[in-house]
Amino acid sequence: MSILIKNGRIITATDDYIADIFIEGETISGIGKNLNVPAGTVIDASGKLVFPGGIDPHVHLEMPFMGAFSSDNYETGTLAALHGGTTTVIDFVIQSQGKLLYDALREWQGRAIGNVYSDYAFHMAVTDFNPQTQSEIKDLIEKEGITSFKTFMAYKGSLMIDDRQMVGLMNEVKKHGGIVTVHATNGDIIDFLVTQNKAAGNLSPLYHYLSQPEITETEATGRFIDMAYQTGSNSYIVHMTCEGALNKVRDAQKRNQKVFVETCIQYLVLDASVYDRGFESAKWVMSPPIREKKDQTALWAAINQGIVQTLATDHCPFMWDDKRKGEQDFTKIPNGAPGIEHRMELIFSEGVNKGKISLNKMADITAASSAKIFGMFPKKGTIAIGTDADIVIFDPVKKHVLSATTHHHHCDYSAYEGHEITGKAETVLLRGKVAIDHGNVKIRKGYGQFVKRTKLTNIL
Ligand code: URP
Ligand code: ZN
Ligand code: ZN
Repeated sequence: MSILIKNGRIITATDDYIADIFIEGETISGIGKNLNVPAGTVIDASGKLVFPGGIDPHVHLEMPFMGAFSSDNYETGTLAALHGGTTTVIDFVIQSQGKLLYDALREWQGRAIGNVYSDYAFHMAVTDFNPQTQSEIKDLIEKEGITSFKTFMAYKGSLMIDDRQMVGLMNEVKKHGGIVTVHATNGDIIDFLVTQNKAAGNLSPLYHYLSQPEITETEATGRFIDMAYQTGSNSYIVHMTCEGALNKVRDAQKRNQKVFVETCIQYLVLDASVYDRGFESAKWVMSPPIREKKDQTALWAAINQGIVQTLATDHCPFMWDDKRKGEQDFTKIPNGAPGIEHRMELIFSEGVNKGKISLNKMADITAASSAKIFGMFPKKGTIAIGTDADIVIFDPVKKHVLSATTHHHHCDYSAYEGHEITGKAETVLLRGKVAIDHGNVKIRKGYGQFVKRTKLTNIL
């Protein structure tokens, strides 16, 4: 099996040039001008951009959450990802409080193995740090290749851990070369505001937004950063949304502390006006909520300033019937929204095409940085000889409109209904196979492989 991609404009986090790519088996074996090699398949990429396959570092597939399951399973979710040019996703295994981390890992493996189209990895969410779970960390990193440990400073009563557990976990993860990641919002303040709103009869989705003001994220972000500083742990903050939190990262940089930051595409392209639509706003009930226009500006700037390194989706769709469970009470609306398919096309259309970020920056935040931070580089995240042939051939001028009638998410609405896009992932290769060709699926379910990640010795 060999494939020759001819005359594409190759974009990585650092390069931009026109050349041919020769693929043998699962990896890239040659890159050059006018390569003259016999190939089983030749793809003409003239006029096209050629990106490294996207890595979405934050998705929730078939996740049990708030009385429902996120509606994309490993099959539908990873196929939707591939359609949009994302070839690797990192999902969250979520420990149940009182149980082992390995119990949760077996449960998530049971859902994923054999069902996956794209490649995938796992973060381990630690919701109960105690001597038993502490003793599992080393094996998770060294035997399972799970090097990142997610924590929640919110979702009081189900997922949240306290600061004592946080520093304990950081200390243990540091010993074994991993990284601690966090959903950084202040669960106690949110809990207080939710209780206050409910007592006042404020029950619509708007009050989800009003119960999680910027200060709740700013405060928790600063506290997490301080704990990481104190323990010396590698640290990564997921789905950052706002100016106040970004400023906490800037403060950390002043003392030469390295903190990695992720934002999500919805926080760059949507604003809080989505909460002015009555119960329809339940589509955008997620945590943290969509913020203000000034926060969008701050996030775009932070990407260019190198304060934000990665772009995710936090893909966590729920069917409308599940969202409707909160018609009388916003706290019963399962938190999360669909997006796994649209990240690459939206960032190109809204970011590159509108002059907010460069093509190199796009390749960096959609692929390279996640691969580096999470121990997959250079196997994933770039286009170079010897790397996995995960490649997106992207038409930069093709126009289309996002809609629930055409998306591949298993979700009966779109968070971006009617959004006009310039740019389309046309052909997507995963480990040397054409996976998607002009919307047609060319691989079978189960082709996706688990990516065992390496210890973090050399990050960014
Ligand atoms: O609302 C969200 N983000 N749902 C998924 C869980 C999380 O907090 O990431
Ligand atoms: Zn979260
Ligand atoms: Zn999430």
